[in-house]
Amino acid sequence: MSTVAKMQSGKDYTRELVEKDKAHHVHPWQLFDVFNDEGALPIVRGEGCRIWDADGNEYFDAVGGLWCNNIGLGSKEMAEAIAEQVLKLSYASPFVDLTNAPAAELAEKLAELAPGDLNHVIYTCGGSTANDAAFRLMHFYNNVRGKHDKKHVISRVNSYHGSTYVAMSIGGKPGDKVPEFDYIADTIHHITEPNYYRKAKPGQSENEFVDMLVKQFEDKIVELGGADYVMAYFAEPVMGAGGVIVAPDGYNRRMWEVCQKYDILYVSDEVVTAFGRLGHWFASKDEFGIQPDIIISAKGITSGYQPLGAAIVSDRIWNVVSEEGHGRYFPQGYTYSGHPVACAAALKNIEIMERNKLFDNVNEVGPYFMEQLQTLTDLPIVGQVRGKGFMVCVEFVKNSETRELFDEELDIGKRIANEAEARGLIVRPIVHLNVMSPPLTMTKDDVDFVVGALRESINAALVTLEKEGHWAG
Ligand SMILES: Cc1ncc(COP(=O)(O)O)c(C=O)c1O
Repeated sequence: MSTVAKMQSGKDYTRELVEKDKAHHVHPWQLFDVFNDEGALPIVRGEGCRIWDADGNEYFDAVGGLWCNNIGLGSKEMAEAIAEQVLKLSYASPFVDLTNAPAAELAEKLAELAPGDLNHVIYTCGGSTANDAAFRLMHFYNNVRGKHDKKHVISRVNSYHGSTYVAMSIGGKPGDKVPEFDYIADTIHHITEPNYYRKAKPGQSENEFVDMLVKQFEDKIVELGGADYVMAYFAEPVMGAGGVIVAPDGYNRRMWEVCQKYDILYVSDEVVTAFGRLGHWFASKDEFGIQPDIIISAKGITSGYQPLGAAIVSDRIWNVVSEEGHGRYFPQGYTYSGHPVACAAALKNIEIMERNKLFDNVNEVGPYFMEQLQTLTDLPIVGQVRGKGFMVCVEFVKNSETRELFDEELDIGKRIANEAEARGLIVRPIVHLNVMSPPLTMTKDDVDFVVGALRESINAALVTLEKEGHWAG
């Protein structure tokens, strides 16, 4: 029986799916106990910004999958491009002396779209592996330059860079640093994130806050021994999973200038921010005026139609490691690096974004989205609404004046997300936050639905909190 037919057969099929999933599917980040009780919601169909569960309920997916459904779901054109590539060449080895047409075409296109001298593409299977590859490449680069001690990495608290051993060690989300796991701690260091709402001192202006963070960065570099010891700084232009943290003006540029001063490579992790989420192919230069040494991309590069990641590397690095006459090579790559079907999907995705002028939509609807979300700040538990482009978040607080948070056990973000789900809206709960990163095709009418549903959901959660004695009004 087809999935659609089974869906029509109703709840038995849903129960069957949930039970199979519970018995055998390991879900990233889900609490084992909760999963054993509740299982997961099976999604069986998607079109544009909308998804349907196995019982046929419709939702507006304001999360865009996982920040990745940039062109929207179910594109026939993408399906045809993918099918055509499968029939033509479904796989080719990227190792040593073989390549394939989509991989070569896409590498040229990425070099054209990426700023400055970022001309060399290391393909991977996603963002984590692209960060991993960048990390290893920078070791290679410094070893080739005879700078064997230049291996320290600095990133920020609450950053997210993926979930390989290296990427998770670079990331700084406290909730990801569980005691049962080990992390690289001797060469990876975390400094304060540019969260003005939470981290600025009382009375501190945005400029003073930026001065403080830049100083902290420079102090950390000096503490680690200076230019001879610090290899790289990893940063998302707008921090995503750590809570959509948009730094005050000038911050990204000033951190980049510090990197220039100390010969530190700037790795701009644009896994979320690239491919239109902020209205550009890449946000580093166009939005923040910085020229990274490496840009990390994934997610929106194929709009999630195929798994693909890329570390886009500068001539400056590449010319050193690949210098003629040394017999070196890059012992890093995957069976699926430069996968022809994934690369064909990325090429078609880029074509669709260009032709449909999706960035214009982000630039037009983005400010309306933010303006409408800001209306939620009249609700007593909405502490802050923040974001940029199609990357936004609502932070919930127990007291909007003191910014005191609810107890974590109350899981306020999840409570409101559950209320939203019951109203046909998917938002992503992260502790005290609801995060949204909708497809770039979202319209102003969609915004009205999202904000209306969110308002109702927050109010409904307030009623329950009050009944439970966690909220006194
Ligand atoms: C900024 C950033 N970097 C890296 C990653 C990891 O990418 P992936 O899950 O494709 O490995 C993510 C995923 O959310 C991300 O947000």
